[in-house]
Amino acid sequence: MEKIWAGRASGITDPVADDFNSSISFDSRMAVQDITGSIAHAAMLGKQGIITPEEADVLTDGLKGILSDLKSGALAIDMKAEDIHSFVEAELTARVGDTGKKLHTARSRNDQVALDLRLYLRDETDAITEKVTALIASVTEKAEEYKEAIMPGYTHLQRAQPVVFGHILCAYAMMLTRDLGRLADARKRLNISPIGSAALAGTTYPTDRRFEASLMDFDGICLNSLDGVSDRDFVIELLSALSLIMVHLSRFSEEIILWSSSEFGFITLSDAFTTGSSIMPQKKNPDMAELVRGKTGRVYGDLVALLTVMKGIPLAYNKDMQEDKESVFDACDTVKKCLDVFAPMIAGMTAHPERMRKAAQTGFINATDLADYLVGKGLPFRTAYKISGQIVAFCQKNDLVLETMTLADYRSFSDLFGEDVFDAIDLDACVRRRVSEGGTSVSSVEKQITWLKSEILK
Ligand code: ARG
Repeated sequence: MEKIWAGRASGITDPVADDFNSSISFDSRMAVQDITGSIAHAAMLGKQGIITPEEADVLTDGLKGILSDLKSGALAIDMKAEDIHSFVEAELTARVGDTGKKLHTARSRNDQVALDLRLYLRDETDAITEKVTALIASVTEKAEEYKEAIMPGYTHLQRAQPVVFGHILCAYAMMLTRDLGRLADARKRLNISPIGSAALAGTTYPTDRRFEASLMDFDGICLNSLDGVSDRDFVIELLSALSLIMVHLSRFSEEIILWSSSEFGFITLSDAFTTGSSIMPQKKNPDMAELVRGKTGRVYGDLVALLTVMKGIPLAYNKDMQEDKESVFDACDTVKKCLDVFAPMIAGMTAHPERMRKAAQTGFINATDLADYLVGKGLPFRTAYKISGQIVAFCQKNDLVLETMTLADYRSFSDLFGEDVFDAIDLDACVRRRVSEGGTSVSSVEKQITWLKSEILK
């Protein structure tokens, strides 16, 4: 196929260089966006009298024909083309003749590729937003199911204070709501049209960039043509948002892996989202969660790759920027796959409240409540803290827990202890009393669930 840029140059390149230079193997996935952009461009050229209305119609019909033939499979993309832009233009010219050669008036592949990528990533952002929302729905539903299941809450992975499982699940749902916010924010800056920036300096033709942008539902246009063709912030911002989604999924995965181990025994994943071992018949492996945790590194890699590509290139377009696509496509694909597997994995997860409660009973996780009890009797917190610490040490030495101490034992540490100490350290009471907004009491968790449902999942 003759090079789109043959003219000054012969256009005859070494096959090794062709192969190295070509982007069709990955930018072919922007075919729909490339054609959509070209249809808008033809309409603008026609409206502005840069081409005749009849020529605009010829171009539009030809492009629509290519689109429907690609969709039906009647037309296959020629993988020998340099990129998707040259393929579409060559196919158009083959179909409609010389008029096809007018399509590229007042534009360059530099603004064209920036446009295609923005259109493509806008759809990806919307698809990922939908999937994050579906995951929040699945997590919220589980939180509701287990809003009363008491388990140890941890700091430093040491048993700390009792919480309900629903509270932990709501914490993950909250992280995901911030991800939705970041996607929406990235979308705002992404949804600005670069087309009409042309190669770098704008164009001599009387174009109407705002009209062309409005045909593709953009919220505005890039205000500087050099910036319009050189900006890849929108890709990096999306990659950052995707990386943070992966941070959250990876942390969640880590907990799921721990909770489903025999050591914890807090949850069981469904057979549909676990695997077995080829040698150890007893195994039920949390492969999905492990893979999500593993794929997180890959998405960070995509982000760092593009940050590095962009950091040293001068204005305006440089071919380095062709490297943006494989990274961001990989990140979008990976995040979508992870979200697709995560939502049903959570839906199929069964918790074991009795095991959780048992773990909560053995880690002195009510020691803070014991100190609070003494504060209630008039001691300063620091003094109460010290006495409670001595009691924990006493228990550990005598193989006791706070619940199995006698009142006489307690009174040997302070006269302030009365029979009501046992109510104060009762696990259910410990949870019930944590009514501060955002806390772990069932009523606070219910409020979090209500907020998620009414504000996010509406
Ligand atoms: N395949 C190129 C890319 O992805 C398209 C833009 C080519 N522009 C150019 N001046 N060679 O960046």
